Amino acid sequence: MTDCQGDGEGASTPMELYERLGAQGDKVRSLKSAKAEKAEVDAAVQLLLKLKIDYKQMMGQDYKAGCPPSEEAAAPDNGPAAEGDEDTVDPWNVSTTNAKGVDYEKLIVKFGSSKIDKELVDRIEKVCGQKPHRFLRRGVFFSHRDMHQVLDAYEKHKSFYLYTGRGPSSEAMHVGHLIPFIFTKWLQDVFDIPLVIQLTDDEKYLWKDLTVEECHRFAIENAKDIIACGFDLNKTFIFSDLDYMGASPEFYRNVVKIQKHVTFNQVKGIFGFTDSDCIGKISFPAIQAAPSFSNSFPQIFGSRSDIQCLIPCAIDQDPYFRMTRDVAPRIGYPKPALLHSTFFPALQGAQTKMSASDANSSIFLTDTPKQIKNKINKHAFSGGKDTVEEHRKYGGNPDVDVSFMYLTFFLEDDEQLEKIRQDYTSGALLTGELKKILIETLQPMIAQHQERRKGVTEDIVKQFMTPRPLNFNL
Ligand code: TRP
Repeated sequence: MTDCQGDGEGASTPMELYERLGAQGDKVRSLKSAKAEKAEVDAAVQLLLKLKIDYKQMMGQDYKAGCPPSEEAAAPDNGPAAEGDEDTVDPWNVSTTNAKGVDYEKLIVKFGSSKIDKELVDRIEKVCGQKPHRFLRRGVFFSHRDMHQVLDAYEKHKSFYLYTGRGPSSEAMHVGHLIPFIFTKWLQDVFDIPLVIQLTDDEKYLWKDLTVEECHRFAIENAKDIIACGFDLNKTFIFSDLDYMGASPEFYRNVVKIQKHVTFNQVKGIFGFTDSDCIGKISFPAIQAAPSFSNSFPQIFGSRSDIQCLIPCAIDQDPYFRMTRDVAPRIGYPKPALLHSTFFPALQGAQTKMSASDANSSIFLTDTPKQIKNKINKHAFSGGKDTVEEHRKYGGNPDVDVSFMYLTFFLEDDEQLEKIRQDYTSGALLTGELKKILIETLQPMIAQHQERRKGVTEDIVKQFMTPRPLNFNL
């Protein structure tokens, strides 16, 4: 994982890395006491920071001087390592060696999508007549396909529908899972359009070591958290694949049409399937593609197959929709348009997205105010300096600081956020103070979510999940 990159700094064992951290710390201290040039001190501090990040990534815990790594604490990472400088982004893996996170500009080029630039954000504002959501203002949604086309049509009174989804792999959802739903709810409100939400319980059964019943139960439980985001019952249909595939002949017809137009070679190329993957996985992409076509939902759209679909999703879902867009014209349907978001970083740093299986990697929607406080104070990776004196003198680095990153997602006030960024960079604001702002932002947000979720009864879930007409003008 920490292969040598140019500067010959590679350390292959935790002990080597630990020793280099010690040496680098000494170097920073001696440069400072010798009053070395600022640029030289900065460079040494930067390297120290980078080593700390490497250490945390390798060991899953912070570097502490005087606490060498123990023998049994081997690298926890058993996933495929990122090769060299390349970021890995596909539906199952997200990793990078860069503390600032994945290089999204590069990803736009690699995936062949388009950047959501200022012009597009201004245009969305003009067309919907509302201040753009903070996720647009701040580049959380950063990439798109065909959004201009959607807006052109909308301006000519040709409407569209929204499609998003979730793979219900456990009961526990964390704040990162809410990003696409918070944004989709905003889109539904400002454009006043119908929405379908796919819960891929079938996908999770195929990929994880879970029973069909468990996956279906997680779908229903996750639906409650999704509904708690405030979706309009009159405009929203939520479905579990395990239920809807068998209930809708129209949906299944589209699935087989898609299946007929994609070869094994193509899905191997797009998803990396191998000869030993089960055939359920190989055909699953057709099931995630089908909701992109309006006639998969006759109860909502009748037999119309020409209604444009817009899919807000995290960029790791793009491979599914590249495939969908490739198939669409060949089966006589419009290509879905897309809005892509960045990943929500783990508390431990932006190298990876959060994992629902590691309780300390994220803030869960079920966390108590105390748990939120403790997790942030203990685990949120800091871009601050080691001591208050150093921090006051050199300032913190908001670009790698997870608490700051979380605030860019959840703090609504742009001016306040900018002030925090400046004060943290200058050293006026300390790490503890920054964390306190985040804690006080998240505690009420999560508490309110829990309140709303409590109000979501089994009956309300059933209503959202019943195939039925929705209320809209297209
Ligand atoms: N495959 C997605 C996941 O594992 C779930 C999903 C299905 C989805 N359809 C979608 C996500 C459409 C975004 C948009 O989370």
